[in-house]
Amino acid sequence: MQSQQIETPRADEVRGYSMLVGGEWVEARSGETLESVNPYTGKVWATAPAAGDEDVDRAVRAAREAFDEGPWGKMTGTERARLMRRLAELIAENAENLAVVESTDNGKLLREMSQQARAMPEWYYYFAGATDKIQGETIPSDKPNFFVYTRHEPIGVVGAIVPWNSPLLLLTWKLAPALAAGCTFVAKPAEQTSASTLEFAKLFEEAGFPPGVFNVVTGYGPTAGSALVRHPGVDKVGFTGSTETGKRVMKDAADHLAKVTLELGGKSPNIVFEDADLEAAANGVVSGIFAATGQTCMAGSRLVVQEGVHDDLVAALSEKAKSIKLGNPLEMESEMGPVAFKEQLEKVQGYIRIGQEEGAELAFGGKRPDAEELRDGFFIEPTILTGVDNRMKVAQEEIFGPVLSVIPAKSEEEVIRQANATPFGLAAGVWTKDIQRAHRVAHALRAGTVWINAYRTVSFNTPFGGYKSSGIGRENGLESLREYTQVKAVWVELSGKTRDPFMLG
Ligand code: NAI
Ligand code: MG
Repeated sequence: MQSQQIETPRADEVRGYSMLVGGEWVEARSGETLESVNPYTGKVWATAPAAGDEDVDRAVRAAREAFDEGPWGKMTGTERARLMRRLAELIAENAENLAVVESTDNGKLLREMSQQARAMPEWYYYFAGATDKIQGETIPSDKPNFFVYTRHEPIGVVGAIVPWNSPLLLLTWKLAPALAAGCTFVAKPAEQTSASTLEFAKLFEEAGFPPGVFNVVTGYGPTAGSALVRHPGVDKVGFTGSTETGKRVMKDAADHLAKVTLELGGKSPNIVFEDADLEAAANGVVSGIFAATGQTCMAGSRLVVQEGVHDDLVAALSEKAKSIKLGNPLEMESEMGPVAFKEQLEKVQGYIRIGQEEGAELAFGGKRPDAEELRDGFFIEPTILTGVDNRMKVAQEEIFGPVLSVIPAKSEEEVIRQANATPFGLAAGVWTKDIQRAHRVAHALRAGTVWINAYRTVSFNTPFGGYKSSGIGRENGLESLREYTQVKAVWVELSGKTRDPFMLG
């Protein structure tokens, strides 16, 4: 198969996708499909199979067979790495196409999706480099007649459930370490955004992996997603999505004791102290909440700001919000695209209303824009709510949209207390020029990632994950390999003598 050409989806075309199961492109057994809506045009642009229990079972069996009996299970790490590097090359060659498909599916800016797709190969290169370093230890035995060592073996079949906000990057955070460890994989993308994962699956095939190593089932969460999590043939579930669904996933996985990693929601604070570089801080706050239309798990959705700079900062933010160019996500000059789908837009609008009912003030935005060319899309203005009390719903619940809640605070202690007072703990930004304060506050925050004078940067080599209700386990970095391996201890008797069989040795 040839690498694909870049094709911008035509307005009058509806693409029909199939799923990849055991190296074959298949439809759902029921023949049912689901529709993917382009959030800029509001129109259906693609369809994918709506998998049921039977389809999921077939995919898990294919992954199981590839793990237990196929050539994949016998490959050395060095051989797996070669395939992973080939995949990385194909992603690089096709990055633009993958990005266009993702933007069309979820309305995120092509500007950002292109950058994500171009960065993705680095994950596969990094983890390819780790395949021959997943090593055990020899343990100096306390028994003179034993030689003891450990092996870090692949956990087996991984079921991965991915949300709609960054489908391929969040898939990659699971797939790259899983392949490095030697696992096989069944991916279930979000029902709103199946297309990019199926485009990616073509590249996976082209890279030359044995059939069944990577399978994709598309379908709805409560049916296909749930069937995957509950399948006894799945040894590990990697999930990114809402905290509510994450809890359901963990309970379902517990029934067959599958290991889980959960990357869940957040209500991350961007903290601005009086001594901060205000221009840099304002820019960081914008990137935290308005980039990606606020639809990121790590969104800096609460601004905890010291009173002395509150008014200046809010004025600077309103100025910046006013200049943000809403537009077609496929156009490079657009700065904010639509919300990904209609229900999500309604949820965001609902919170803007709730915030005002709770007593917050609308300092900027809050409405659907009225420009003609934005009418069909699920657009909402960048929105700033001031006078927010940290106990309000808009300070405690994940909105997942471009809505900033501004919370004033006085002392450093109060700032830390407010910042930590939510059920979440995914990330935080700290803006200050005082190096001692920066580290002091970073250590006091209950969050898996803290950025100092920065926001929203991630890397393949740096662990990412949540404290508290933001998740369990870590993705990225060598740390994440632990999530896809299990440890076996091997005891070798050296003397050849027998011993008392009725005692623990
Ligand atoms: P969701 O958590 O329900 O969906 C995420 C994924 O889980 C999708 O692939 C979905 O099909 C699957 N899923 C749903 N129910 C399932 C089940 N019972 N068993 C297995 N898989 C299941 O999130 P949804 O409904 O798309 O969005 C709702 C809210 O969740 C958003 O408004 C946002 O607040 C939050 N969210 C947070 C994300 C994050 O990265 N932190 C990502 C997506 C959504
Ligand atoms: Mg849902």
